[in-house]
Amino acid sequence: MSVQKEIKKTTTRTLLDMKQKGEKIAMLTAYDFTIASILDKAGIDVLLVGDSASNVMAGHETTLPITLDQMIYHAQSVVRGVNHALVVVDLPFGSYQGNSKRALESSIRIMKESGAHAVKLEGGSEVSDSIKRITSAGIPVMGHLGLTPQSIYKFGTYTVRAKDEEEADKLRKDAIKLEQAGCFAIVLEKIPAQLAGEVSQRLTIPTIGIGAGALADGQVLVTHDFLGLNNEFSPRFLRRYLHLHDMILDAVKKYSLDVKSKDFPNNSEQY
Ligand code: KIV
Repeated sequence: MSVQKEIKKTTTRTLLDMKQKGEKIAMLTAYDFTIASILDKAGIDVLLVGDSASNVMAGHETTLPITLDQMIYHAQSVVRGVNHALVVVDLPFGSYQGNSKRALESSIRIMKESGAHAVKLEGGSEVSDSIKRITSAGIPVMGHLGLTPQSIYKFGTYTVRAKDEEEADKLRKDAIKLEQAGCFAIVLEKIPAQLAGEVSQRLTIPTIGIGAGALADGQVLVTHDFLGLNNEFSPRFLRRYLHLHDMILDAVKKYSLDVKSKDFPNNSEQY
């Protein structure tokens, strides 16, 4: 009889317990099997199949072009690599806005076809009906307030949101609306740290910050940024844990030299 090690799975309940205990939540994005398996093995709490795949995987300027089918493809690959983390998948632009029936149908497709555990959508009171409809089907929903990249053409800039009192007040109200609508957590992107702290204290559900300071209940980074795969994107909130861009450049140059100088492959690297 083989003894199987019990794998502790992260659930939405786990995240709520973590908030209650004051334990911070660590979340990163993932879009493929290999990276997802490494992040999961390292014990990350939540993996977000972000629509930032549109930027970092497909090379688009914004998150708008990525499709529901493409998000499902990325989500399937991530789910195959995960034993422990909660996998949350972004509903892409155009798959939920202004139509709660469509929002539910898109969420059901993600859950059924990828095996992910939850969906995420952007926006405040305007998406609360969709959140109610999706959660009433038993699908957990993560909200997203502050800088919501699917609205980039409305904002016109990627700078910090909710700096003025009017927008800060709307964000406070939206956060409460999202909690009441049934969200299990909310991403707060690029807002003042003090506002994120205030909202986090007010809510029962956890907040996950990106560029929102230390008082959020958890943190998320885009994995390509966190690993330093991209040298050009250097916002103040980003801490690079590796410098893979430069490491890969050096490795490729060395490989090319080795091939051209006939150093690779050597006798022990052939049959
Ligand atoms: O798509 C994404 O990567 C995100 C994070 C920035 C939170 O939504």
